Amino acid sequence: MTEPTQEMGDMSIKDDKMEAVEEDDIVNPWEVATSSAKGVDYDKLIKRFGSTKIDDALLQRIEKLTGKPVHHLLRRGKFFSQRDMHMILDLYEQKKPFYLYTGRGPSSDSMHMGHLIPFIFTKWLQDTFDVPLVIQLTDDEKYLWKDLTLEQANHMAFENAKDIIACGFDIEKTFIFSDLDFISNSPAFYRNMCRVQKLVTYNQVKGIFGFGDSDCIGKISFPAIQASPSFSSSFPEIFNGRSDIPCLIPCAIDQDPYFRMTRDVAPRMNHLKPALIHSTFFPALQGAQTKMSASDSSSSIFVTDSDKQIKDKINKYAFSGGGATVEEHKEKGGNCDVDVAFQYLTFFMEDDDRLEEIKKTYSSGELLTGFLKKELIEILQKLVGEHRQRRADLTDDVVRQFMTPRKLKYDFPPPTPPSDKKKKKKQKNSKAV
Ligand code: TYM
Repeated sequence: MTEPTQEMGDMSIKDDKMEAVEEDDIVNPWEVATSSAKGVDYDKLIKRFGSTKIDDALLQRIEKLTGKPVHHLLRRGKFFSQRDMHMILDLYEQKKPFYLYTGRGPSSDSMHMGHLIPFIFTKWLQDTFDVPLVIQLTDDEKYLWKDLTLEQANHMAFENAKDIIACGFDIEKTFIFSDLDFISNSPAFYRNMCRVQKLVTYNQVKGIFGFGDSDCIGKISFPAIQASPSFSSSFPEIFNGRSDIPCLIPCAIDQDPYFRMTRDVAPRMNHLKPALIHSTFFPALQGAQTKMSASDSSSSIFVTDSDKQIKDKINKYAFSGGGATVEEHKEKGGNCDVDVAFQYLTFFMEDDDRLEEIKKTYSSGELLTGFLKKELIEILQKLVGEHRQRRADLTDDVVRQFMTPRKLKYDFPPPTPPSDKKKKKKQKNSKAV
């Protein structure tokens, strides 16, 4: 693959300044890399991708409409960027439906804490807005990109479905599907894939994703598969044939290229553009310069790790922003911006006051790295332990129920037939005259 160059639709065109950003930070679905120990420069990324920063006004509107405080991942700017969130809130205000769509590319038998971030947040969105949710497991993508057989990728999809369900999703509101199992039995989904495939040129995907001449044709057409769940008409069992139910996609910002493409083609398919809400990246244990790798067990905490593994990994690998010696630390204080244990706490410690206290005492040098790590170990052992238990309690049968195409608990009246729509339009026009 080559470096992505030209972008389309919602995307901003690069200028000289953007070029400099791109040299520093690489963010695409396959690679996230930055030379800064503080991690990716998200403000610059927003400009480059052409999305909108989440501001206080949006948070206040969510709180006002839902009558509850926003999730700490929103409050702390972990979800930091959006497209068309106000449109989704307008719908909610008018009591009109929308749905959530997110996904996972199953490349390992178990997911790491970074993968869990969008799912933890999606669960909050599902609970708060009470809407249907579809979750795509792109086992086909992983087959095409990794050294895996179809069977291995499909098996991982089933295992990852367990990790996802263990986040607490409601079976009556959630449909999880593996591309390999679902698409061949879903004419509506396949038709949307074909529509997208016809509307996007090779030149465009080359520009967005950096595909090169030696990439297999499966990769080149794959973006149409990740785009299709953004359209409610892909799921007639859930939406009763309706193509006009808008979609909101929570994900980390590495997935945005897929949805810039989707938003570009949607109006040409007579469909609505999906809205998005993007998160920052949960850093690797070794620091914010790299995206965690599911195939490198020392780079992150996995949802299947034991209490001992969690403790050992954090003590051994978590990059410290503390001084080299106790004396130096006491004199100069710790650097919370680069300290991985502190960064992890900002994702998982819910208590704002306690977090602020830790920040103050660590920065001043009063609190030592060992205590910070101990605090994190306790939180993660509890969180992962509970998740591990819920995962162990799941039966294959329940997983299969989540993965069966079916009506969810929501009723959607059937679409108005085109002839009725014309009649209604005529009546309206004649009234106007
Ligand atoms: P995948 O499996 O790479 O990642 C799954 C989800 O986790 C997010 N993510 C992270 N979030 C925070 N910190 C990290 N370090 C981190 N690493 C990954 C990803 O952004 C993603 O939301 N092609 C997709 C699967 C997919 C999908 C979707 C994802 C299909 N349809 C719709 C989001 C929305 C993939 O391979 O994700």
